Amino acid sequence: MTVPVLTIDGPSGSGKGTAARRVAGELGYHLLDSGALYRLTALAAARRGIELSDQAAVAGVAADLDVRFAGDDDGEGRVFLGGDDVTLAIRSEEAGAGASTVAAQPAVREALLGLQRSFREAPGLVADGRDMGTVVFPDAGLKVFLTASAEERANRRYKQLKDKGIDVSLAALSRAIEDRDRRDSERETAPLRPADDARILDSSAMSIETVVETVLGWAREA
Ligand code: DC
Repeated sequence: MTVPVLTIDGPSGSGKGTAARRVAGELGYHLLDSGALYRLTALAAARRGIELSDQAAVAGVAADLDVRFAGDDDGEGRVFLGGDDVTLAIRSEEAGAGASTVAAQPAVREALLGLQRSFREAPGLVADGRDMGTVVFPDAGLKVFLTASAEERANRRYKQLKDKGIDVSLAALSRAIEDRDRRDSERETAPLRPADDARILDSSAMSIETVVETVLGWAREA
């Protein structure tokens, strides 16, 4: 029997990370935060002094990522690279920008395919990212494409950073989000787009609870 997979793809700030974690918790499924793998690749390359433009070397880093996700069934979960807790380090704007750069490299995406698929274990998997429904798990039983307006996503990010005491300008955040969207959807390999059989959910005016309930409802139907 194949292990069920539910994919949640969408741009950054759409709330898919939080939604995926909660849906996985409700269903008792494993969770794959695929964006973390691109962030880890960028971070691991930087730590080894490898330029992100050196595509072959970066793909080598991706191919032998020593990653461990701990406590991913509840709570926030921690991420380890080698023995190091890099949970916070991979969330920096810098790691996000690095991730976006390496994510545009076909050899890196190829190198991470097997690792991503290895998360598919009983009783099931919720996978969140950009190409979970289109490339990594094309046979997923339910594919969700979660969006929100760029303005709403910038607002959410602004509030998150403010809560952490980080001072940024909303205008600069909006620009960064639009730039990243453009890079992610215009790249040639696995661009950000809904799978043909994905269900589209616009979360701009929705609470996270409504998003989770909607996805769980679809999961029950599927
Ligand atoms: O979801 P995130 O912000 O952690 O993703 C970081 C970067 O990795 C982002 O620029 C998009 C890219 N990414 C990707 O190309 N494919 C995925 N499945 C997940 C993330």
